[in-house]
Amino acid sequence: MLRLVKPTKKYEKSWREAVEEFRKDSKTIKLWEVLGNPDDLDGIIRNARLHSQGKNLPAGWVPYDLLWMIDGDEIVGIASIRHGLTPFLFKAGGHIGYEVKPSKRGCGYANKILQLSLKRFEKLGIEKILVTVFENNVASWKAIEKNGGKLKNRVKVENEKDTTRRYWIKL
Ligand SMILES: CC(C)(COP(=O)(O)OP(=O)(O)OC[C@H]1O[C@@H](n2cnc3c(N)ncnc32)[C@H](O)[C@@H]1OP(=O)(O)O)[C@@H](O)C(=O)NCCC(=O)NCCS
Repeated sequence: MLRLVKPTKKYEKSWREAVEEFRKDSKTIKLWEVLGNPDDLDGIIRNARLHSQGKNLPAGWVPYDLLWMIDGDEIVGIASIRHGLTPFLFKAGGHIGYEVKPSKRGCGYANKILQLSLKRFEKLGIEKILVTVFENNVASWKAIEKNGGKLKNRVKVENEKDTTRRYWIKL
């Protein structure tokens, strides 16, 4: 069964394999290193707990839950569930970040990771979720639309070549 879990030692082997893949991936949005050195799983687990509670956050960050999507015993994706928006996240970034392990792309996991993430927002009491995506990331915006995303607008973000699509999903 597919599920989102907090980083845990239980999937250490799968974590190391996923990191190996992400390190070679040109499309990654680097959620695998957002909690610190990916080789230090104890540090990752500790930071996941603290950052979720709003402790020890880098300046300007909102509290967030960094979660692994598990299929069987394997990490197949990573999601970042942000508990709020800053002015920057409101323009580009949104409430959710997600990425699928490179060798598992094209199997429908983007749809699933979004579906499961929306349940997390429901639990947090956040009913209007902003999701942003680059225009050329067709697989991602297809998954957003499949999960009820309504295109609000397209914006240009400083230092980014591609246009950003901004979607709202209402639960
Ligand atoms: C973008 C990303 C999350 C997509 O994940 P994925 O698991 O490969 O996507 P899925 O297999 O669920 O595909 C989603 C939809 O896009 C379609 N799709 C996949 N690749 C496509 C492509 N190159 N062109 C057009 N459509 C495509 C799929 O058919 C599917 O549509 P369907 O449900 O109607 O069949 C993944 O490529 C990734 O992790 N990229 C790097 C990080 C990233 O871009 N994250 C998102 C930031 S907004």
